[in-house]
Amino acid sequence: MKTKEVDKSILNLVIDGVLLILLAAMSGIGGLIKFILVPGCVRNQMYSNHVKLSFMGLDRQDWGRIHLLIGIIFIVLMVVHIVLHWRMLGCLFRKWIDNKVWRVIIASFVAIVTVVLLLGFLLVHPKVVPLNGNHGRVSIRVNGDTPYSECSLSTVKPTDLLIQTPVF
Ligand code: HEM
Repeated sequence: MKTKEVDKSILNLVIDGVLLILLAAMSGIGGLIKFILVPGCVRNQMYSNHVKLSFMGLDRQDWGRIHLLIGIIFIVLMVVHIVLHWRMLGCLFRKWIDNKVWRVIIASFVAIVTVVLLLGFLLVHPKVVPLNGNHGRVSIRVNGDTPYSECSLSTVKPTDLLIQTPVF
C-alpha cells in the first residue's frame, strides 16, 4: 500500500475508534441522566426533599451539557467519516443499483429525510396544553427540570415544588 493510502486507513481507524468511544460515552451519560441523576420530583421520592444529586461534582444539567457537546462532536466526526468513505459509498451504490434514475430518487429521499430529522426541530412549535389543577396559568417545574405533571410517582406534594414557571 502507498504511504498516502496507509495514512488514510490509519485516519479512518482512529476516527472509527473515537466514534465508538463517543457513542459509548453518549449512551452512558444518557443513562446517567435518565436513571441515576433523576429529575427533581423523582429525586424527592427516592431520597428526601432538599437534596441535590451529583456525580463527580456535576449535576443533571451539567451532564446534560456534556452529553450534548459529545453528541455534536459525534455528529461532526460522523460527517467526516462519511466524507472519507464517499468514493467507496458511491461505488457500492452504483454497483447495487444500476438504474441512474432510481439512484437519484433514493439518494434524494435519504438526503431529504436526513435534513428534516436533523434540522426539522428548528421549524416546529410546542403544543401548549394547560396542566390539570393549575387552571392553565402556570406550568410547575421542580428545580427547573421535569414538569410536575410528568412525575410518575404519586406522593409528590405541591410543597415539594420549588420553582413555578409561568406559561405564556
Ligand atoms: C447513543 C446515542 C444517544 C443516547 C443513547 C442518548 C440518550 C439520552 C437519554 C437517555 C437522555 C435523557 C432523557 C431524559 O431526560 O429522560 C438524553 C438527553 C439528551 N440528549 Fe441524548 N442520547 C444520544 C445521543 C444524543 C445526541 C447525538 C445528541 C445531540 C447532538 C443528544 C442530545 C441530548 C440532549 C440535549 C439531552 C437533554 C439533556 C438535558 O436534560 O440537559 N443525545 N439522551
